[in-house]
Amino acid sequence: MNLLDGKLVSAKIKEDIKRDAAAFTAQTGRKPHLVAILVGNDGGSETYVASKMRNCELVGFESTNIRYDVDITQEQLIKKIEEINHDPTIDGLIVQLPLPKHIDPDSITEAIDYRKDVDGFHPVNLGRMQRNLPCFIPATPYGILLMLDHYRIETAGKKAVVVGRSNIVGSPMSILLARNSNPGNCTVTITHSRTEHIKEEILAADIVVAAIGRKNFITAEMVKEGAVVIDVGINRENSTETKSGFKLYGDVDFEEVSKKASWITPVPGGVGLMTIVGLLKNTLEAARGTIY
Ligand code: GUN
Repeated sequence: MNLLDGKLVSAKIKEDIKRDAAAFTAQTGRKPHLVAILVGNDGGSETYVASKMRNCELVGFESTNIRYDVDITQEQLIKKIEEINHDPTIDGLIVQLPLPKHIDPDSITEAIDYRKDVDGFHPVNLGRMQRNLPCFIPATPYGILLMLDHYRIETAGKKAVVVGRSNIVGSPMSILLARNSNPGNCTVTITHSRTEHIKEEILAADIVVAAIGRKNFITAEMVKEGAVVIDVGINRENSTETKSGFKLYGDVDFEEVSKKASWITPVPGGVGLMTIVGLLKNTLEAARGTIY
């Protein structure tokens, strides 16, 4: 088993981003600027947004976290988004998901100017991604591509099985792996909660992307010998063992699956760190105006 080491790869790419951000600032007299909107107080979302903001500072970006109480209305939120859309000092805008039930996430996603949509969730970016045109690619799939690229993992012609069909990971990942690009050119199967014989589907995969959000869902008996296993799961459980008070588990039973996999990502220390890198790269591109 070889480790797909998110710590190592993310640190290396962040050095490149830091250098490019410094060059941007020297040229323009301002830093790339990301705004993150956080509604309510979901524990996971708070941790993710704090990490995004911290990493912006680390690479020399400006970052602003706007927080709203859980009872903000959809209209109020969209008004703020439109304000940011028109603010030339802001390059990228993300609204952390999930949102409270009374707010429709699709309406929020479509309210964001696609040229500032560094999450890559807007239909314009989604459509352009499917066509292999310049666009913002959702951060987690983008980070996974960067990881596969770093380790020169051969994907062309391989059978990839994506477990989970979310808008954030599973669905864009399946598009990206099937595209005529490198990494890409896979034969892709998307599996989900309604898939029949899911174990057999996953067993046939050369590349497994697990993004289903269930602790240790992928067991050794579901994975082919020599498969590449990408674990997107960040399942939080309360724990007295750690300082933070919780422990993270992937969607993959790492202990057992690592005995069969040729390459595997750990949790933590794998895809999560690469997601940040994807977001930072998108924000830099937004500031430079190289995509739009
Ligand atoms: N919630 C979980 N992942 C993400 C992400 O990549 N972006 C946003 N906005 N919300 C998320």
